[in-house]
Amino acid sequence: MKPSIPKVHEGVGFAHGKIILMGEHAVVYGHDAIAWPLLSSHVKTIAKQVSSSHIHSSLFDGVLEQAPVYLKTFILQLQDALDLQGVDLTITSDLPLGAGLGSSAAIAGSITAACFDLCHQPLPLADRLKWIHVFETSVHGNPSGVDGFMTSTQSPIVFNKIKGFQTIQTPIQGFLVIAHSQVFGSTKEAVALVARYVKQHGMKQVDELGKFVQQAKLFLTQGNLVGLGRLMFQAHQALKELGVSHPQVDRMVEQALTAGALGAKLTGGGLGGCVIALFQDAQHAQALLKQWNVQGYAPGWVLDLHHG
Ligand code: MEV
Repeated sequence: MKPSIPKVHEGVGFAHGKIILMGEHAVVYGHDAIAWPLLSSHVKTIAKQVSSSHIHSSLFDGVLEQAPVYLKTFILQLQDALDLQGVDLTITSDLPLGAGLGSSAAIAGSITAACFDLCHQPLPLADRLKWIHVFETSVHGNPSGVDGFMTSTQSPIVFNKIKGFQTIQTPIQGFLVIAHSQVFGSTKEAVALVARYVKQHGMKQVDELGKFVQQAKLFLTQGNLVGLGRLMFQAHQALKELGVSHPQVDRMVEQALTAGALGAKLTGGGLGGCVIALFQDAQHAQALLKQWNVQGYAPGWVLDLHHG
């Protein structure tokens, strides 16, 4: 006999963070981006079927009617598609917002997964990405799709919004320090700033970033950590020229280089957010993380690029 579906059922959805090693912003214009999953930080959503919808989260707690419009619209669309009268969502996260780590894509992914789970509906990756795209389009206007993909999958990838993705195979042995500048950057503003820059000055700077990504792909295949570090710094300079860095982020990049990093740059949308710094060995990486934590740049992580 088939087990009957319990009447009171909870749906659960997860998503993790992401780091863009190189290619943010250029990816919006059709260039490749290299991205790594940040598997140690998550958004979790629990969904319950109710007659009138509520959201419980650190950002907003209350009835759906009063939620920020982008969240309300998204959830109403999901409810409609799944034929749900109402849903009670509890969203918890250790992924900081406005940090360039994919929090908005992760929130959308975890809500979508929880609602589909609640309705016992399978959620193929393509559908999950479609829903994240809906959310991200209203949050930041022109998403390339890299955040949705990377917060939903587990391997480092090269992402291209036209050609799709390729899993990265690399012999590289290195450590990435990631820390929050405590300046909260808006991806929407950053993407709009770059669009204005391109309108005024053309594509040269964006294409330059795209070239760095192609070289970085080669260095990853060859295991050339020193070359990769140099490119990260050059990419940071190009992003600064596009107007999406921040003085605090630039100071952290300088500090990282002084601490022996092979390269350092902003990651994600910019205008604040996180800085990433590349090291050959774990000890120096941990030392910088400690220094940054003492200075209040937190949260932070050390990511082993070889073992994830
Ligand atoms: C944000 O993490 C990455 C950007 O390139 C925007 C996008 O690709 O959607 C700035």
